[in-house]
Amino acid sequence: MKDFRLGVVGLGHRGRAMFAEACKCLFGIKGVAACDINPALWYDDILRDNAVHPSMASRMPDVQFYEDYDEMLEKADLDIVMIETPATCHAEFCIKALDRGIHVFSDIPSVRDLVEARDLWEAHLRSKAKLMTGATTMGWGFCLSLQDLYRNGLLGKPYALEAEYIHDCRSLWEETPWRKPTEKFGSVPCSYSTHSLGPMLAVMEEDLSEVVCISSGSHVTEFPHANDYTCALFQTPSKVTVRMTCSFINNCKSGLHSFRVFGTEGCFEHLAHRGEKQPMRTTFSSNKLVGTDAPVELPVGFSPYTDAVKQQYKSKGTFGHGGADSYLWMRFLEALQRGDEVMPLSLRDGLRMTLPGIYAVESVIRDGAKVAIHYPWQKEEFQKDIETLSPRCTGC
Ligand SMILES: NC(=O)c1ccc[n+]([C@@H]2O[C@H](COP(=O)([O-])OP(=O)(O)OC[C@H]3O[C@@H](n4cnc5c(N)ncnc54)[C@H](O)[C@@H]3O)[C@@H](O)[C@H]2O)c1
Repeated sequence: MKDFRLGVVGLGHRGRAMFAEACKCLFGIKGVAACDINPALWYDDILRDNAVHPSMASRMPDVQFYEDYDEMLEKADLDIVMIETPATCHAEFCIKALDRGIHVFSDIPSVRDLVEARDLWEAHLRSKAKLMTGATTMGWGFCLSLQDLYRNGLLGKPYALEAEYIHDCRSLWEETPWRKPTEKFGSVPCSYSTHSLGPMLAVMEEDLSEVVCISSGSHVTEFPHANDYTCALFQTPSKVTVRMTCSFINNCKSGLHSFRVFGTEGCFEHLAHRGEKQPMRTTFSSNKLVGTDAPVELPVGFSPYTDAVKQQYKSKGTFGHGGADSYLWMRFLEALQRGDEVMPLSLRDGLRMTLPGIYAVESVIRDGAKVAIHYPWQKEEFQKDIETLSPRCTGC
């Protein structure tokens, strides 16, 4: 089969690494085009960790660089585009590609607001091209273990789930200004919900339908608009409850992501590290498996690569967050090659994990009031939300 012609937009920290590694490690793609509004990111050597790294242009001489995304789409004859622009602007790039019949692998969150969600959903419905949501945490080994435990009935029905994403991002503000608190975007951590909600929704049958969320406000920095810490409580129609705690300004030095799933037949827990002496731990207990009455530790970390997975997905190497990103890319390419109708992480999956975070912002704006959550596939209710919710939430 012919290689997919791959382009990337956004050559910041993540785009540079993801594009170079994908071209190096994955079978079935050929990197042909790259785009950023800052050409220095392509042509200049990069100084990082006190070492000079040769420019992307010198390392990838067969790739054509563009400063303008529309021009890249027009001229580069792409099959797939990788979207690695700031978290507040993915949808417009996705829509333009889908409208030209170009497949999309988009980083998260899927959208910034409800208007983008409606427009992207409609673009995806009218396009023959496919969109894969690049939700990294969905490729982590312990999250895949959780899905296996669930599928095999060892947890029963998950009815209460908890996810924490605690990451002091202040050191990233200078180089990625979109992470810095502003009055408009990026200052309410619950809006970055995909890392937390993705693994939880993978073991839930219903969508999240209601949220209450409160913010601590600003205590740690001088920015009055910052929200150091948010805590959201979501529910589904049958009252399955998810607690999501997010903080991107703090003095916590522990690992970033922890999860707990209470099921009718068992319990799963992944606890991020608490310093070198207390590494990350994943445990579960189950009424359905002899020997697991008390928590049993699972020998699993970030990597999704079991021997069986290595056999299934041949590659020249792995990359991204312990191999999670390369795993998701391999599953995406396999689905495209097979001609699947639905991608392993579809736009619907992406919106299921993105929109609840945006509605949580609306709850914060309303001082913790309960807000009903809708999705673009609930067309009338969603349009009504676009017309009635806060401008910040809807994007109007
Ligand atoms: N999956 C994960 O675990 C994970 C981790 C980190 C970042 N991310 C996501 O990756 C994305 C990129 O993050 P980053 O840290 O690399 O940010 P970054 O700011 O370093 O990079 C974004 C790049 O996009 C470019 N850009 C902006 N507007 C553009 C336009 N109109 N045309 C072309 N290029 C444009 C910028 O110049 C910049 O180089 C974000 O969406 C972020 O949420 C995901």
